[in-house]
Amino acid sequence: MTIAQLSVHIHGLAVLLSLIGFVTRGIWMLQDSARLKARWVKITPHIVDTILLLSALVASYLMFWRGGVNPNYVTVMMVGLLAYIGIGLVALRLGKTKAIRGSAWVLAIVLFLYISAVGILKTPTPFFTAQAATTSGSAA
Ligand code: HEM
Repeated sequence: MTIAQLSVHIHGLAVLLSLIGFVTRGIWMLQDSARLKARWVKITPHIVDTILLLSALVASYLMFWRGGVNPNYVTVMMVGLLAYIGIGLVALRLGKTKAIRGSAWVLAIVLFLYISAVGILKTPTPFFTAQAATTSGSAA
């Protein structure tokens, strides 16, 4: 296994852990659970998300950037991550009412799943691509 492949696997694992953690913290937020205040609950997401980003940067460099290319879907993942961080902050910290925090939480999860589909299918339009493939297949 190459270091690039290893980085993608570590990235995928960190993505899964990050999603599980975000969903869990959102549920605790909606329940006003005191568990949100635990030290490890505050620290672990930073560690997981740092691994998620570092492994993404290493994989992107080894697979694309050092060769002078940057696929569109990698740009989408970078912009998507920034948007996810912003919406995630509203969900778990900045949102004034529970309705705002809950809505931001759902939106952040949908965005996260979209970015994951982009990464797995390696296209910025993961849902249209499948459609297009079916359509062109039947037209042929
Ligand atoms: C919330 C943010 C992100 C999510 C949810 C996400 C999700 C994923 C997933 C699920 C995969 C597939 C992993 C696998 O095949 O095992 C993937 C692959 C990848 N991601 Fe991300 N990612 C995110 C952010 C980023 C960022 C910021 C970058 C670039 C700096 C990036 C670069 C990549 C690359 C290069 C791959 C490998 C694609 C390939 O195999 O050709 N990702 N991502």
